[in-house]
Amino acid sequence: WPVIAPYVDEIIRLKKERNAVILAHNYQTRDIFHCVSDIVGDSLALAVKAKEVDADVMVVCGVHFMAETAKLLNPSKKVLIPDPEAGCSLAESITGADVQKLREDNPGVPICTYVNTSADVKAHVDICCTSANAKKVVESLGSDKVLLIPDQFLAANVAKTTDVEILTWAGQCEVHELYRKEDIQQIRKDHPECVILAHPECPPDVLDEADFSGSTTGMADYVKEKKPELVALITECSMSDNIRADCPDSEFIMSCSMCPHMKKITLQKIVDCLRDMSNEVFVDDAIAKPARASIEAMISAS
Ligand code: 13P
Ligand code: SF4
Repeated sequence: WPVIAPYVDEIIRLKKERNAVILAHNYQTRDIFHCVSDIVGDSLALAVKAKEVDADVMVVCGVHFMAETAKLLNPSKKVLIPDPEAGCSLAESITGADVQKLREDNPGVPICTYVNTSADVKAHVDICCTSANAKKVVESLGSDKVLLIPDQFLAANVAKTTDVEILTWAGQCEVHELYRKEDIQQIRKDHPECVILAHPECPPDVLDEADFSGSTTGMADYVKEKKPELVALITECSMSDNIRADCPDSEFIMSCSMCPHMKKITLQKIVDCLRDMSNEVFVDDAIAKPARASIEAMISAS
């Protein structure tokens, strides 16, 4: 506390002065998640709630595509990101031009992108999805074949749950791709009573070994509702830290992998960007309209 208190006090003061709110993804560190944020959640919740923000300024504590999504959905607000270099291996894996080529190569096949992509990619697709609604969105398209890009593991995991034929792209999350099914088998061997939850960005054989798979908020809700005595979250490290406060009945096994992009956001950088009103996020007018339409289509479908 003595170390973070001055930052927290200053952020609270600056939020009032700037009429700002802080949106934080579930992978943000505890100090940000618990002490200074106003809205927390998974990618879907942050997008839906960003649309409703009334304050003048939104500071998005997450990665760049999340800040872009907030700007697209509530364009009259100033959107700041404490570190504009906070990227994502999935968003880096594909461009709008790649999607254009996929469209030419697969005439008539609807294209759904995971929200972990740039606004340029979103502008070239029919609809977006998140890990919370991917199956529902894919099935809402009414097609027997869908391109679900760019996460090949999310696509393979959705494909196991639907009759829709899923085509994909070779993107992967650098955090979740590291898990192996042997990691899960070892946890089971060491702790047979442990409930194992895995994010759908993990490889399919990892999910096969888990008891439940869901978005970051889906996993948090599962633990809050079912109150398992022992739980392992097969996902980014801050998840266990952040939900522990709401789950006093559960013990958490630390079996996590850290996202270096999410961890670029710090209390000091939040102070800096609110004080200087720096690192504002803009989306090119030419791509904003179609990109917004594909996110709005997702919100309607889910
Ligand atoms: P969620 O939508 O489940 O929060 O996932 C976002 C993300 O980046 C996971 O790696
Ligand atoms: Fe991207 Fe993976 Fe980090 Fe999520 S955890 S922001 S998908 S690199």
